[in-house]
Amino acid sequence: MTTESGVPVDRAITPAVRLSDARLSFGSRTLWEELDLEVAPGEFVVVLGPNGSGKTSLLKVLLGQLALSRGSATIGGAPARTGNPHIGYVPQQKTIDAGVQLRGVDLVGLGVDGHRWGLGLRNRAERARRVRAAIADVGAQGYADAPLESMSGGEQQRLRVAQALVGDPRVLLCDEPLLSLDLANQQLVAELIDRRRRTSGTAVLFVTHEINPVLPLVDRVIYLVNGRFRIGTPDEVMTSAVLSELYGTDVEVLRVRGRLVVVGTGDTMDALGTAGAHCHGAEEFGPGVARNGARA
Ligand SMILES: Nc1ncnc2c1ncn2[C@@H]1O[C@H](COP(=O)(O)OP(=O)(O)OP(=O)(O)O)[C@@H](O)[C@H]1O
Ligand SMILES: [Mg+2]
Repeated sequence: MTTESGVPVDRAITPAVRLSDARLSFGSRTLWEELDLEVAPGEFVVVLGPNGSGKTSLLKVLLGQLALSRGSATIGGAPARTGNPHIGYVPQQKTIDAGVQLRGVDLVGLGVDGHRWGLGLRNRAERARRVRAAIADVGAQGYADAPLESMSGGEQQRLRVAQALVGDPRVLLCDEPLLSLDLANQQLVAELIDRRRRTSGTAVLFVTHEINPVLPLVDRVIYLVNGRFRIGTPDEVMTSAVLSELYGTDVEVLRVRGRLVVVGTGDTMDALGTAGAHCHGAEEFGPGVARNGARA
């Protein structure tokens, strides 16, 4: 069997990620519940939803940083736990604090699992080789030795991706990894992640407000809104009917030249929150399609 994007998947083998009857609540507020999700090795799953819908929290559950209120979360069949070397993580972007004297190459080095490489000379050389290769993969050789605080947001972001990949993870959790990247670098990072899951069978959970740059790669979408969610292929989830139901208001999904534009007007735009900003890449269409999709 192959996934939506053509990657062969054997669903009989242990899922890379499994959430069963998962609920996450903070006090009396439930972000999501009755969530069942299995991600196969090599599968590319996009996590969509407005601000505060619980996308980052979902990744934190898999990282063992947040405990479920109910149900279970496993990585490669074992309970989610902190410090899992099988997970690569690109956190939601924060600008590096001024005064942190870390170079790009040091940041990437933090992603190498210390246990695996130890401190022997050969291992140290191998570690350095790995770090350099990961930096080259994201095209950051030109500035990786500079202090992080001197870099642009996009340059920092590429190094974060290198850090997440350097440990050869089985599961890659990316929280808005394309943020602050220009179009060329969005494509570079998306292709890098895609190549990794195709060659190494890395399962990818990819949080984004902009599905279009990765739309051709996506196997399934999980769309979270106010405690409701839908899981399915992009064709199943990204429809006017499904999104209107999730948001509880009229939302229209337009397909323009292979891209998705989520359109709402007036109150609907407010309800969409940043999903309105995920009027996916509307500004790329040039004249004719306004940012809010009104003239599409
Ligand atoms: N440890 C916590 N304790 C209490 N509330 C929390 C905690 N972590 C997250 N929340 C709340 O859960 C909600 C979901 O947060 P989360 O960061 O998962 O949203 P998100 O979907 O990633 O949003 P964004 O698109 O803005 O990044 C927010 O309202 C947040 O304040
Ligand atoms: Mg978030």
